[in-house]
Amino acid sequence: MASESRFSLTRRSVLDYFLGGGILALLGTMVYPVFRFLLPSRFAVAHVDTVRVASTSEIKPNTAKLFRFGGSIGILVRTPGGEYRAFSATCTHLSCTVQYRADLEHIWCACHNGHFDLFGRNIAGPPPTPLAAYDVAVRGEEIFVSARKV
Ligand code: FES
Repeated sequence: MASESRFSLTRRSVLDYFLGGGILALLGTMVYPVFRFLLPSRFAVAHVDTVRVASTSEIKPNTAKLFRFGGSIGILVRTPGGEYRAFSATCTHLSCTVQYRADLEHIWCACHNGHFDLFGRNIAGPPPTPLAAYDVAVRGEEIFVSARKV
């Protein structure tokens, strides 16, 4: 009889368990991001100077391709005139990833309607500064992007 009452659950105790679990889950979602921010990542981000981004046949005029550049994202643009240009794809406003708009023939940030010309200059919207520019080199059929030396 005593063991039966030990394991019996009342409606009140079930609700207490759910409420307690909900509070723990809420605290976990609030505390975990703080720990992730404070503790260094176990995986170091590789320092990258040059990456192969694409072959020349992949990128048609008036298109672009996003690519990984170390721990960040870059955008390789082939202008309507056929030139290759590369920039950081991180918007200088609030760090959204920019994209290429073929209809506008320039780089655009969808987050707050920021616009950058084909030299990476901020031309409209809230971005306060130009996109960081990278160097582009075409070797044979391959396109390489490098960090710009200052
Ligand atoms: S983050 Fe790009 S315009 Fe705001």
